[in-house]
Amino acid sequence: MKEQIKQIQTLEELQALHTATFGKNGTMTARLRDMKNLDNDARVALNRENAELRELFKTRQTEIEYAVMMAKLHDQKVDVTLSPEPAAVGRLHPLTMALTEISGILESFGYSLWTGPEIEDDWHNFTALNTPAHHPARDMQDTFFLSNGNVMRTQTSAIQIRAMEKCGVPVKMFGIGATYRKEMDATHSPMFHQIEGLYVNKDITMSDLIGDIRAFLQRFFEMDNVELRIRPSYFPFTEPSIEIDMKWHGDKWLEIMGAGMVHPDVLRNCGIDPDVYQGFAFGFGWDRLAMLKYNLPDIRKFYDGDIRWLAANGF
Ligand code: PHE
Repeated sequence: MKEQIKQIQTLEELQALHTATFGKNGTMTARLRDMKNLDNDARVALNRENAELRELFKTRQTEIEYAVMMAKLHDQKVDVTLSPEPAAVGRLHPLTMALTEISGILESFGYSLWTGPEIEDDWHNFTALNTPAHHPARDMQDTFFLSNGNVMRTQTSAIQIRAMEKCGVPVKMFGIGATYRKEMDATHSPMFHQIEGLYVNKDITMSDLIGDIRAFLQRFFEMDNVELRIRPSYFPFTEPSIEIDMKWHGDKWLEIMGAGMVHPDVLRNCGIDPDVYQGFAFGFGWDRLAMLKYNLPDIRKFYDGDIRWLAANGF
């Protein structure tokens, strides 16, 4: 029996022999049960044998467990020569890239960067922009109203008012930031980003506006020549108002931005004499320009924060 235990190689076999020896019907169990029939010396001998056997089982169990562990350690060797998994490197979001590029172009044209509050008061978002209360043009933008009468800024045009109020004329600025409207589909998100340009000085005309827009679009889309289509439009804060379309891939006209000559009442609202100063303003969604430039069809993906989507599109 002692030799047998030492020969055993697996825990299962050891367990089986242990049961056959010490289990309910085990051989040792039977002998211990009959101990009352033995004389004193034989009892002592049996007890010793019992204790020795139990000890042997325990020792062999420890030995087998150790051998199993060593075998595992051997098989699962760590290969220290393998290269580590590459760590993911952070990159700029396409919206950030587009904004950086747009800002750089406008700054090179002499426009200076402005921001303003996203929670805007009625004056800056509407009234000063020649859209007083009950003006039907307020319906052009589905507005989020706050209970205190403020609004979530619907257009960065609010920033041009702040710039004129603060700095007067001449002024050449662009405002950037998030804007909010109650709309949502593949090309509309309730939060999107606009850029607003404004240039007010003496003798500014519509051709100054179109010249800057043309140069801007050529730089941004890296095209030698953009074909533009100027359509009459309506915004309460510009007169005349236009919309500018751009020929895309040689066959499609895409609406790119709204623009126009600053309405005399808007200048007056900012304390500027419209008989001396004129200016132009333009505004566009920079998410949309980024979608076009990087060929991304769904605006909502910009805000999902899904790194897999970004990586799949080359960012
Ligand atoms: N604020 C206008 C809009 O959001 C765009 C615009 C800006 C139009 C400046 C004219 C001049 O639709």
